Amino acid sequence: MRLRASSGDPVGQELDALIIPLIRSDGLPPALRNLDAGLGGAITRSLKWGDFVGKRNELAILLGGDHAAKRIILIGLGDPKQVAEQTLRAAAATAVREAARRKSQHAGLVVPTLRRIPAQNAGQALAEGALLGSYRFDKYRTTEDNPVALASLDLFTRDASHARALRQGIGIGTITAESENLARDLSNEPGSVHTPNWLGQRARELGREFGLGVRVLGPRELEAHKMGGLLAVGRGSANPPRLIVLEHGAPPKAPARRGRKATGRSPRRRPTIALVGKGITFDTGGVSLKPSASMQDMKHDMSGGAAVLGCMRAIALLKLPLHVVGIIPAAENKQGADAYLPGDVIETASGKTIEVINTDAEGRVVLSDAIHYATRYEPDAIVDLATLTGACVVALGSAAAGVMGNDDALIERVRAAGERAQERVWPLPLWDEHRDQIKSHIADIKNTGGREAGTLTAAAFLSHFVGEIPWAHLDIAGTAWTGRDRALCVKGATGFGVRLLVELLRNWR
Ligand code: BES
Ligand code: MN
Ligand code: ZN
Repeated sequence: MRLRASSGDPVGQELDALIIPLIRSDGLPPALRNLDAGLGGAITRSLKWGDFVGKRNELAILLGGDHAAKRIILIGLGDPKQVAEQTLRAAAATAVREAARRKSQHAGLVVPTLRRIPAQNAGQALAEGALLGSYRFDKYRTTEDNPVALASLDLFTRDASHARALRQGIGIGTITAESENLARDLSNEPGSVHTPNWLGQRARELGREFGLGVRVLGPRELEAHKMGGLLAVGRGSANPPRLIVLEHGAPPKAPARRGRKATGRSPRRRPTIALVGKGITFDTGGVSLKPSASMQDMKHDMSGGAAVLGCMRAIALLKLPLHVVGIIPAAENKQGADAYLPGDVIETASGKTIEVINTDAEGRVVLSDAIHYATRYEPDAIVDLATLTGACVVALGSAAAGVMGNDDALIERVRAAGERAQERVWPLPLWDEHRDQIKSHIADIKNTGGREAGTLTAAAFLSHFVGEIPWAHLDIAGTAWTGRDRALCVKGATGFGVRLLVELLRNWR
């Protein structure tokens, strides 16, 4: 879909649909009076007769007159005091989907003037909503009962001074949403397609297309790095594991000093952020096999990795002035001839040893090596995303991901970024009690801590590998995919984390 900002008059344009977002109020906003007149008073009448009151996400369809679009789609924004970016995002998604359902090709949207939302934010939210709401994963369908997405959407604003900011917001929103849709695409592929090797290939392609540094470590290099955790989990599968590393904005290698005295202050270096995403391309549970009900969803167990790939694409396109390293431990957790076993003791790259209690707690095992690898960059922060525990789904459902870590300020920034991006995360505690719960009698730690506080003991496990570096862990088990269609996302992978990370990194210090 092509998105454009336009300062023209939406009336008299050749449009298949014109979307008009309206807050709940007693009448027509003055800014829409001309438009309404151009439509023969159609909006005023539907408000007067109560056909449309402007409740949040309420839809009404009017047929356009001779000089207007073929159809007018009114979409409600609800209570004016509560309208926020989130409202615009969801409204755009709902309305664009309605337009597509009615076989529209070219649509327009009248950008509402809202005092509390700067034009740039409005443009970003509307673009994100339109693109996320139109997302489909239909490459495996041979029947065409899905509506096709719009070819173009013009965002109309009469206020020329706003057009620039609006355009800027559309640019950011387009990059972010398309990157999130990329993460959805990766995660929605069947497990037998998105293998560790396949993910590595996609990373290489992203590197070439968007100018990211990419390195993919295969089994031999993983041996050399002594990544016993990632290797152990991958051993049960014919598709060997990979460690995928992407890099944006790497600082130039310091030139060798030729005997000259150092000039004192070194130039301020860019902040380095490490993003680590769990990349279990399918999780059968391994020898501690999962029950078959819903096992098909475990193809999404690489959604943290997919979000990191999507985010790397976005920050490359946004040219953020940061050094960002994306790290994805990719492996398939299966029960092949050489699969790792409960009772095994694994030596990780950090040197710490793990007693395996349950092979289904594989995420933390592969993350141990990936997080340790991240610390070698001495980053200012590590943020990891993982579909780590079913317990997190029980605790928070699909309304929010859990966030834990060792740095309250970082956790708060992650929380706030998620709130703004409409990808909610909610803080959960991480205490010494949880670290005690995973002490092992035979190794340094064990990979499960029993039934109690499963999400927190998983985080406690990861904390062993971050050292002193500020770290936030997002358990996205409940948010990485959805079992039903929602405003911003159809059933399947959500791409959760891309918008949150982009929002976090765009505002980094
Ligand atoms: N990938 C799963 C967690 C998961 C479960 C995500 C359901 C989304 C929905 C993870 O690898 C896992 O199996 N965790 C176990 C840990 C347990 C064995 C300690 C779990 O949550 O049951
Ligand atoms: Mn598992
Ligand atoms: Zn898993």
